[in-house]
Parts: sequence; structure tokens; C-alpha cells
Amino acid sequence: MRARSHGGVRRQAGRFAMAAALSTLLMACDGNAPGSANADATTGSSGSASRAQDANANARAGQGANLMKIAAPAQGGQTRAEVYAQVRRMTVLGKQMFFDPSLSGSGKMACASCHSPDHAFTPANSLDVQIGGTDMRRPGMRAVPTLKYLQAVPAFAEHYHDSDDEGDESVDAGPTGGLTWDGRVDRGSDQARIPLLSTFEMASSPKKVAEAVRAAPYADAFREAFGARVLSDDDATFKAVLKSLETFEQSPEVFYPYTSKYDAYLAGNATLTAAELRGLQLFNDEKKGNCASCHISQRAKDGSPPQFSDFGLIAVGVPRNRALAVNHDRKFFDLGACGPERTDLDHRAEFCGLFRTPTLRNVALKKSFFHNGIYHSLEDVLRFYARRDTNPEAFYPVVKGRVQKFDDLPRRYWVNLNTDPPFDRKPGDAPVFSNAEIKDVIAFLDTLTDGWQPGAH
Ligand code: HEC
Ligand code: HEC
Repeated sequence: MRARSHGGVRRQAGRFAMAAALSTLLMACDGNAPGSANADATTGSSGSASRAQDANANARAGQGANLMKIAAPAQGGQTRAEVYAQVRRMTVLGKQMFFDPSLSGSGKMACASCHSPDHAFTPANSLDVQIGGTDMRRPGMRAVPTLKYLQAVPAFAEHYHDSDDEGDESVDAGPTGGLTWDGRVDRGSDQARIPLLSTFEMASSPKKVAEAVRAAPYADAFREAFGARVLSDDDATFKAVLKSLETFEQSPEVFYPYTSKYDAYLAGNATLTAAELRGLQLFNDEKKGNCASCHISQRAKDGSPPQFSDFGLIAVGVPRNRALAVNHDRKFFDLGACGPERTDLDHRAEFCGLFRTPTLRNVALKKSFFHNGIYHSLEDVLRFYARRDTNPEAFYPVVKGRVQKFDDLPRRYWVNLNTDPPFDRKPGDAPVFSNAEIKDVIAFLDTLTDGWQPGAH
């Protein structure tokens, strides 16, 4: 399988931002201020710890090993049992807060309102983007990604060098990693701050969040975990909330169980149907879908399971979603990594139009696809991949007989568009997939849903 170009040889990402963030909770155990140098110092070691963990066939057992290794350098006098107890307390608290609408400005919106556990932590509804704010009337601008398998996302790097790459770290895989569609934060705790404070999401403030925690049924448990005085300090309380949410998001049995039919198939415990196998073939075939060049489908060299993303930031030229409120302004463009939500790379033209490749694990449970939520079925997404270049008029507006291709990316940034297969065709060529082949690829994607039981088809 060939890796995507403008990246070199790529495989499983080697460093794990979400897992690395686990180390920071140890400071909470120690009562240190979050964000101290202590956290950063342990990031490197936690990366290799979690890689070793991922290689472990048993994710739960692996998580234990992972925690131990992270804990060791930072635990400062705490016993392993104490560290585990603290992780358990924070996980329980994080879960309660994840479902708690009282943290929001409206009192009506929890993390789970947009990240429903029954839909791999994506919305239960099929709106393009969700609606929030203090009055619950403010539309967002991006579709909601899954929260599963984020433990595998490496920290954002402009030039990613994968240490797993057969010893060749000179290969520049291009911009990679980070959380959200544009990779603008690395840690779950920094990420959680975004929806809590966003005026079109939970529209809260550190003060409001602290007030909610003081009044919550889990206030006592919160004091037990973070100290008797924590609730008298709004900022300390807010930080502890962020850490707890992050810790909850790292529960392996909930967020990265690896229980799909495809995982069973890789382990030799399930057989794929003829349609699923044909779909897998088309997905991997470099001259057909070439999907696996970005959505990795094979185990890494170290045996860790595929994440169905290399987490590269890529421009695929998704059509403008004219239904979005932000897009009523004809001059507005969501350019992903170069802004406007992300601000550190603005004026860097080479980052415009780039969005992080999402995992395809559990993608069949999603109801809105691509960063702007423009499509609502896998058929539509697959048709886009199959015919974007052979029949662009089917996806982009036609004005006076001319197709306005890539209508959501100003022309000066078109050089950033990926041109590997399946994006290498032109009008007159055969589409990448026939309709029957699209069905097969979808049959394969259906095998990536967690919770498969032997005996099910
Ligand atoms: C109003 C809907 C909404 C709510 C409520 C919400 N989120 Fe999200 N979440 C989103 C959207 C949209 C994105 C993508 C944001 C972007 O790319 O800018 C996202 C992204 C994320 C990501 C990064 C996913 C990735 O692929 O990198 C995490 C983690 C996350 N949310 C956790 C949370 C937590 C924790 C809460 C509660 C504190 C929460 N979210 C509340 C809509 C929501
Ligand atoms: C060059 C890298 C690349 C290749 C090749 C590629 N994808 Fe993607 N894929 C992406 C990126 C990047 C996105 C997000 C794009 C956006 O929203 O702007 C994406 C999004 C998706 C989504 C939507 C997921 C979601 O949660 O919204 C699906 C489904 C998908 N790809 C399937 C495929 C299939 C099937 C193939 C092969 C036909 C394929 N991809 C080939 C990079 C790639």
C-alpha cells in the first residue's frame, strides 16, 4: 500500500497526544498547577508508553501498563494504587460532567448533546452543524467529529516525521495531527475549553462552570478528588473540570475498544463476506480508491491496530455548504488550518484548505460527513470520491454553463489540493467506482463499527 504523497512513507502515528495528556492528570493528583513544566517533561515518555500499549492486543490490560509508565516519572511520592484511584475518580467525574447540561450557559447543553455515545460520540440528529449558545439558537460552522480513537492522534506538527518509518525519519509526511478538524490543540483538556466557552456551543465561562460544579450532585466527589478548597477557586475548578473530561475521554473500553468486525477479522476471528472483501480491496487498491493511503487499514509494523487515519491535514476540495449561516457571507471561507478558527497559521498560504483526515472507525454511525457536514450518507461521500473529477458538475455549482469547481477554496490555494488517486482523473475518464463498487466499499466501512459480536454477520 502506498502512502499519501506530499507525505512520504506513512503508517501508524507514533506519538499520541491524547494519551500523552494523561500525564498531566498526575499533577492534579499532586495538587500542582496544571500546565507546569512537569507535564511537558513527561510527554515524550508517555508517547512510547502508549505505543507499547497499542501494540498490546488487549487494550484494557494495555491501558494499565500505559498509565504505569506515565505515572512513574511524575507521581511524586504517590503510590501506584493512589494514582489509579485518582484516575478512577477523575474518570467517574469526567463522565458525569460530560452528560451535565448545567455546565452550559443555557443550562440545556452537555458535551453529550453533540457527542452522543450511541453514535460513536457524534450527534444523534442529522443536522449539518449543531445549534447552541445561551439562547440555543446559534448555529455552529463545522460538523461534529467522533470522539473515538483520538488517543492515537499525534500532537500537531507542521512537518511530521514518523519514528515508526523503518528508521527513516528524514521523510517529511507534511502537516499532521492535533485535535479538531484543523489540529489547533493537542490535549483533551485544551480542547474541552473550546466548546465550554464557544458562544455558539456551550456558551459558558469558568465562573459559571465553577458555580455549576458547586451545585452539582458530584460536588463532594469533586472535593475528594481535587482537595477540600478547590471549589472556592473558580480557575482551579475549571481546570480540574477540563482534566476530568480529558481523563474520561481516555477510557479505553469506551473510546478505543477495537471491537469491530474488522478487528476480529485481523485477529483471525471473523471472515468477511464477499462484498466486504471486495470493498476492502477497492479501499486499498492504489489505482482505485487508494483510500488506505490516508485512512490506514493495515496493522503497523509494531502490530498496533490500524486507526483508519494517518491524521494528515489534507485538502480534498469539499464543496461549499451553502446552507451554513457563516457561508451566507460570500467572502467567508473556512480554510481549516490557516483559519479563521485556527489562528497560529494564518497568512501561511500552504495551510489553507487543509483539514485533518478523520478516522473511519464507526463512520457508519455518523449522520453528517466532511468538515462542513455537507453530505448525509456514505453513498453521497463515496459518489464524491468516485466522480469529483470525472463529473464535477454533479457536486459544484454550474454558472453560465461553467462548473465552479472547488467553490469553497479561493483559487490561489488550489495548489494545496491533493492530486493522488482517487483525485487524479478528468472529465471523460471512467469514475473511480461504479455504483456496485460503491456498495461494496460501504459494506466494508460497515465492518469498522465497534461492538461486533461473533455470530453476527
Ligand atoms: C454544540 C455541539 C458541541 C458540543 C456541545 C461539544 N462539542 Fe465537541 N466538537 C464539536 C465540533 C463541531 C467539533 C469540531 C470543532 C472544530 O473542528 O473546530 C468538536 C470537536 C471535539 C473534539 C476533537 C475531536 C477531534 O476529532 O479532534 C473533542 C475531543 C471534543 N469535541 C470534546 C467535547 C467535550 C469534552 C465537550 C463538552 C465540554 C464537547 N466536545 C461539547 C461540537 C460540540
Ligand atoms: C489524500 C488523503 C485521502 C484519501 C486518499 C481519501 N481520504 Fe477520505 N478523507 C480525507 C480527509 C482530509 C477528509 C476530511 C475532508 C474534509 O472534511 O474537508 C476525509 C473524509 C472522509 C470521510 C468522511 C468522514 C467524516 O467523519 O466526516 C469518509 C467517509 C472518507 N473520507 C472515506 C474515504 C474513502 C472511502 C476513500 C477512498 C475512496 C478516501 N476517503 C480517500 C483524506 C483522504
